[in-house]
Amino acid sequence: MRIEKKHFDSIDSTNSYAKRAADTFNPKALTLITASEQTAGRGRFRREWISPKDMNLYASFIFFLKTLRDDLGNIPQVLALSAVETLKPYVDNIKIKWPNDLVVKEEKLGGILCELTQSQHGWAMIAGIGMNINMPDSLLKKIDRPATSLLKENRQEYSIDTLSKALAEKFLSDLTLFLLQGFEPFLESFTNALVHKKNGKLKFNNFKEQIEGKFEGINEDGSLSLLLEDGSVLRCTTGELV
Ligand code: BTN
Repeated sequence: MRIEKKHFDSIDSTNSYAKRAADTFNPKALTLITASEQTAGRGRFRREWISPKDMNLYASFIFFLKTLRDDLGNIPQVLALSAVETLKPYVDNIKIKWPNDLVVKEEKLGGILCELTQSQHGWAMIAGIGMNINMPDSLLKKIDRPATSLLKENRQEYSIDTLSKALAEKFLSDLTLFLLQGFEPFLESFTNALVHKKNGKLKFNNFKEQIEGKFEGINEDGSLSLLLEDGSVLRCTTGELV
């Protein structure tokens, strides 16, 4: 696969654009769509993703699959790992909060939203990522949960373009491996990149209830095992840690 790029000064959402325009992309390429600002940036679970102009990275990767496979749910985790590797030279305590948030000391620096849609070229996988790069404290405070940026961490601004190029190269190589071999080659590095410690207390919200337990580990399918009070183990899939 080769990388093809498209940049917008302003767009509603790079993910929404990728979905609308899916038929127009090269079916053999990994297309990277970026924007300087998003006027309707979207997060997981229908949340807003605050996307002010020229401050952060707003990007969506799109690629095509002839048939569905049951490990597509790991793609956001693979992208999270690519992002961690890309960000390590800039901030060494960058970690993943399961399933795919990028955090520094429990404060969110980035998030991933993957969506699947049908197109003339088959299934289109859209992997969107937002990373807070040069966002000042005053704007980070507008986010409804603890958030950080590279600027906040290092008191220094960075080139969004340089980070975007580095991320695209890393994701292309990780995605190529994933499409050939699945999540198995990533399992160990994913587990090591997590902010959670074995036996650490966690609360899992599956949108019906909040379940408390201890972190037991990550399974080969990327799900999280939570050890419950009664000694049973819950495999967490869809939902989030609070
Ligand atoms: C989350 O953690 O809730 C996911 C955030 C994903 C944000 C990115 S920014 C680029 C792409 N376009 C969007 O509208 N959302 C994703």
